[in-house]
Amino acid sequence: MKCLVLVVVLIDLCQNVLPQRYKTLNQKIQQESPYTEFNTRILNNNREARLKLHYEQLTIFVPENAAFRHSQAKYRSDLIFYHMSYEYKTLDLLNKTNSLSSVILENPPLWISRRDRDIFINNAKIIPEKSNYITRSRTGDSGKEQVLHVIDSVLDPIITSSQSSPSAYDFLQSITNWNLGAAKTVSNFLTKVQETKLQYIFKQNAGHTYFIPLDSGIDPYKFKMINKNIIFGHVIPFYVLFTKPTPENVAFESLANDEDVYIVLSFEEKYGKMYIKGLMKGSFGEGEFFSEIIVPNIPVNNGVVHLISQPLGIYKRHLKPFPYVSVLEKLSSNPENDVFYNMGQKTGFNKIFTKENLSFTYFVPNDSAWTLTQNDDLEPVEKDLDILSRHLIISESPYSVEQLVSLTKANKFTDIELQTKGGPLRIMVLIIKGDYYLRWNNRYIKIIRPDYECTNGVIHILASPMTNFRRKDMTLLEVGGKVFKEYWKTLSEYYENAGMMTQEDRD
Ligand SMILES: *[C@@H]1O[C@H](CO)[C@@H](O)[C@H](O)[C@H]1NC(C)=O
Ligand SMILES: *[C@@H]1O[C@H](CO)[C@@H](O)[C@H](O)[C@H]1NC(C)=O
Ligand SMILES: *[C@@H]1O[C@H](CO)[C@@H](O)[C@H](O)[C@H]1NC(C)=O
Repeated sequence: MKCLVLVVVLIDLCQNVLPQRYKTLNQKIQQESPYTEFNTRILNNNREARLKLHYEQLTIFVPENAAFRHSQAKYRSDLIFYHMSYEYKTLDLLNKTNSLSSVILENPPLWISRRDRDIFINNAKIIPEKSNYITRSRTGDSGKEQVLHVIDSVLDPIITSSQSSPSAYDFLQSITNWNLGAAKTVSNFLTKVQETKLQYIFKQNAGHTYFIPLDSGIDPYKFKMINKNIIFGHVIPFYVLFTKPTPENVAFESLANDEDVYIVLSFEEKYGKMYIKGLMKGSFGEGEFFSEIIVPNIPVNNGVVHLISQPLGIYKRHLKPFPYVSVLEKLSSNPENDVFYNMGQKTGFNKIFTKENLSFTYFVPNDSAWTLTQNDDLEPVEKDLDILSRHLIISESPYSVEQLVSLTKANKFTDIELQTKGGPLRIMVLIIKGDYYLRWNNRYIKIIRPDYECTNGVIHILASPMTNFRRKDMTLLEVGGKVFKEYWKTLSEYYENAGMMTQEDRD
């Protein structure tokens, strides 16, 4: 037995007795032309990485030069480490592996998949004829095993800063840590996941595929429709599906998989864009839906995330039965909003409603609010145009009151910030004794009629405008804090029926 071991060791030694015969990974990458782009853009003379290439057991994935022509990756100094693993994997071994950890453990893992005879690392295909360069490090007498594979795309963890390898739930909670731009937010879907207590699915350490819809694609109707089953329909369990290795038009079952709702999903490419297509069956009938994949292939420690344009599994089976007039038509036809409508006409503010492709959330004070202030000889402190601007939120998708309540909850009952024509508006929206209230500037304003749906947005009618008042016979200077406060006391008596309360009233 001892003999046998000795023989094996001898053979091993003979094979590797002259490590200098082989180039180390570092030498090879520095010297040979197929690796120049990788060398200058990613290895980039990173000293720590070069030492590892000299001395460590390693597998390295090198994107071919051509890969850099179509790559969107940001070339940060630590991107090199997402191309390296301490695990030594020849092609044969890779073919039997499901994932590799990168040398920086805070990165997501490298996910391995196979399609026909090809092997993929995340969304990058291994080019077998240029791969499997096996060599040894400069460590000790015989060195440690090293292998180089060439891939057709740059690997990108996309995350810019993390404490630990992120899960799909971390992604939902802190998408701003990913390099996706500030406009990509997912708080609507996160809120629904929390409401339905399905966080565990996004934390599950199993290797799932997650489709996450952007806020910009969730209008009030879709927000309302997202429930447990719909969220289940956004997860393909136990498959980590990157777009390139996944065959098109092959249906995968989602977690929505019972008699109530059954959803299968498949990838489809149309006109150069990737879509996720869904088929849905349930007690309500059958339906088909599509959503565009806006950002594909975001690796996380428990699978892969694809950001999609709108939620899956929600489709309108009938033509909208609604009146569906525009915001401006609605305003002009409702006699109880004349004050605000006329203010908008006089100042030219209403022109904004005729712009295409904008969507509006408009808080409109009821006429009765103005009558009350007139009786008391009060006038707003601000100019008409400033008041109007503060009441108009412009976003990719309008906000229902229910959505605003959920966002307030998700923000732990602190102010949420919305973009208006006149800069950021900080408010909370709450349910108090069954009624909706908006809290602005320490005042509680009742929303007396929420959610008038219009073609280009939604109107919420308020019991009072979001502005401060002063007595007409006083200059602004004379309105000291104390006097000012008393005004609100007086006003609050008037407003009690109209539903407005001051902070003091609530305390
Ligand atoms: C991977 O394994 C499969 C069989 O399990 C085989 O058909 C395929 O050729 C292998 N691919 C490589 C690159 O070794
Ligand atoms: C509005 O959006 C559509 C589709 O996105 C586009 O074709 C059109 O040019 C846009 N119109 C304006 C005025 O931006
Ligand atoms: C809204 O204003 C109109 C006109 O002033 C008034 O008749 C109506 O009662 C008000 N609605 C509410 C809910 O206060």
